[in-house]
Amino acid sequence: MAEMLRAPKGLDGVAVADTGIAKSDADGTLIYRGYTIRDLFEMSTFEESTYLILYGKLPSRGELEEFAAKLRRYSLVPHNVYELVRAIPHEAHQMDVLRTAVSGLGATEGGISSEEQKLSIIAQMPTLVANCYRLNRGMEIAEPDPSLSLSANYLYMLTGRRPDAFESWAFERMLILYLEHDLNASAFTVRVVASTLADVYSACTAGLAALKGPLHGGANEAAMQMLLAIGSADRARAYVQETLARREKIMGFGHRVYKTVDPRSQLAKRLLRELLEKEGKGLDTYRLCEAVENAVWEFKKLPSNVDFYAAPLFATLGIPIQTFTPIFASSRVVGWVAHYDEQLVDNRIYRPDAIYKGEKGLKYVPLDER
Ligand SMILES: CC(C)(COP(=O)(O)OP(=O)(O)OC[C@H]1O[C@@H](n2cnc3c(N)ncnc32)[C@H](O)[C@@H]1OP(=O)(O)O)[C@@H](O)C(=O)NCCC(=O)NCCS
Repeated sequence: MAEMLRAPKGLDGVAVADTGIAKSDADGTLIYRGYTIRDLFEMSTFEESTYLILYGKLPSRGELEEFAAKLRRYSLVPHNVYELVRAIPHEAHQMDVLRTAVSGLGATEGGISSEEQKLSIIAQMPTLVANCYRLNRGMEIAEPDPSLSLSANYLYMLTGRRPDAFESWAFERMLILYLEHDLNASAFTVRVVASTLADVYSACTAGLAALKGPLHGGANEAAMQMLLAIGSADRARAYVQETLARREKIMGFGHRVYKTVDPRSQLAKRLLRELLEKEGKGLDTYRLCEAVENAVWEFKKLPSNVDFYAAPLFATLGIPIQTFTPIFASSRVVGWVAHYDEQLVDNRIYRPDAIYKGEKGLKYVPLDER
């Protein structure tokens, strides 16, 4: 028998696939299909970056208009999925609600082509995230308003308030930052499911399950709870010191790839400052975040990651905390779909091995004799 390769814990440093979708690097860079995250953040739109990630090139004006119109057309969610959501207890976590709803979509949308399924799931996700929350709070379902841009519409459905141009621009920047991040835990999960030739809804439902965890997408919600618990900049250093002394994690910090800077975090930080200044809200939140960031660097040399600054940014936009991780999911689903497709180009089912450390040769004792 060929000798088995023992992969390091967490598959650290192991490449399990080739990809042309995105690349994060230890030097603090991130590209989507060859374009830097900074350029896309500054100049692109959600629809354009989504097109880029899915089809590997920037669209022409005509292609972009057609694509955006398709997303708008597909954004309505079948109402029987809302019946499913209504049956879920109100205390449920919004990621559990969303995961159930996406699974329900898969059971509902089986009749459409696989291409349509992929665009539908991307287009329906914002509507679903907002309405899962709204139904949970006993509010009416909000239907997308075709006169608004995707990000303005999304914010409107989430908050019930029509955002101004800067607010929807800022929200759209965060959606762009969250779109894709090479082989993170949820993208890997999606690829494993794709490798079995299961449908895209199954793969994305599994992606949602992986994203929910606080070490992955759940970190933005956890980071917000932490910021609320700390309260003000003058308490940050002691909080960080005490938390680390208990060997607990500071949420929104650390990364497998980025060891000094997460480029998304720095862009989100800049955005948070701009938003607070534009809205005349003062810089207390910004100073609190920076104080936490400085303390974590001082004591543990860990950089903040995207989730740390996403959290106060979403909160400043008036978005409910329970929807922070679902919002991350509604953007990352684009990366998942791209990984799903890429996996199938040269597919082989994922089937690693494990080193058996259990007992062997035990003699079975019938129940009555034990
Ligand atoms: C993201 C994360 C899961 C990466 O895990 P990883 O690559 O396995 O990280 P490592 O375990 O190699 O981290 C190296 C060291 O930093 C510590 N560390 C990593 N992140 C930490 C954090 N947020 N708070 C405190 N300590 C942390 C680890 O415990 C380890 O310490 P040790 O060397 O004393 O044992 C991890 O940093 C983490 O849990 N962060 C908090 C959750 C989060 O923000 N997730 C969102 C990621 S975008």
